[in-house]
Amino acid sequence: MVKGKIFTVTGAASGIGKATAIRLAQLGAAGIAISDVNVDALCDTEESCKALGARVTSSKIDVRDAIQVENWVMETIQTFGKLDGAANVAGVAAGHGNHTVATLPQKDWDFTMAVNLTGVLNCMRAELGQITKPGGSIVNVSSTSGLFGSPMNAAYATSKFGVIGLTESAAGEWGRQGVRINALLPGPIDTGIIRDGEARGLWNSKLLGDETLLGRTGEAGEVAKVLCFLLSDDASYVTGAKWTVDGGYAAARTKMTGAPAKASG
Ligand SMILES: NC(=O)c1ccc[n+]([C@@H]2O[C@H](COP(=O)([O-])OP(=O)(O)OC[C@H]3O[C@@H](n4cnc5c(N)ncnc54)[C@H](O)[C@@H]3O)[C@@H](O)[C@H]2O)c1
Repeated sequence: MVKGKIFTVTGAASGIGKATAIRLAQLGAAGIAISDVNVDALCDTEESCKALGARVTSSKIDVRDAIQVENWVMETIQTFGKLDGAANVAGVAAGHGNHTVATLPQKDWDFTMAVNLTGVLNCMRAELGQITKPGGSIVNVSSTSGLFGSPMNAAYATSKFGVIGLTESAAGEWGRQGVRINALLPGPIDTGIIRDGEARGLWNSKLLGDETLLGRTGEAGEVAKVLCFLLSDDASYVTGAKWTVDGGYAAARTKMTGAPAKASG
């Protein structure tokens, strides 16, 4: 159940965050506090959610800044009276895919860790004190890159491994108070981050899509549906999970070689 509940969504200006906010509105959320560093694009998300009947607040928030995040969550409580769920989606993929761990620029490492890992920590620190207990739910967006090392893209993979560690730790701390905390691990999804990363030489999205069991990249809306399920009471016995939404990308990495590419019969 999402109907009548109040949610926060970071990184809501585009891609998975935007699709999540819109999905929450479709499912009847009573209030959605959306945020991003890109306020211009955030307006579009706000309009789409309002058109579906949800009450929405939009804020320019940089998840690297703990004070901004804390104030945003407090304002959300002041506006809507409670917080039932949080989607911590904001993320970046810095660099150009031409550095090993030995030469990785410090600024790329620091920026990636600050947004992808400290950003999630800042969000959870602000959310956990306020979230409905029992019944609250937090989803932190990691990646299938949080399951495997990623040569020439170590900062991104390491930050996403970290999100899983943070999520599992917090799930253990807060489970007995009835708060569920899960990590969502998208595979290759056709959004800004994958297109920008491709332009900078970080990856080849066609190749990544081909490497999934379904043989294609995913859409942001396909991830948002699972994210909203994890936020909802339908997932009442799911916590501390690493939930992949990846067209079988992770399974393909571990499957036996030599199997036929297509089933017959
Ligand atoms: N698209 C994929 O293939 C894929 C795969 C695995 C994981 N992910 C993760 O999904 C999440 C969403 O990415 P997406 O695919 O929707 O890409 P996206 O680029 O469309 O969305 C990311 C959003 O985060 C925002 N953002 C960046 N830095 C921020 C900051 N410091 N504070 C607040 N907002 C900030 C951006 O402005 C953008 O709107 C990210 O955490 C990403 O790492 C994406």
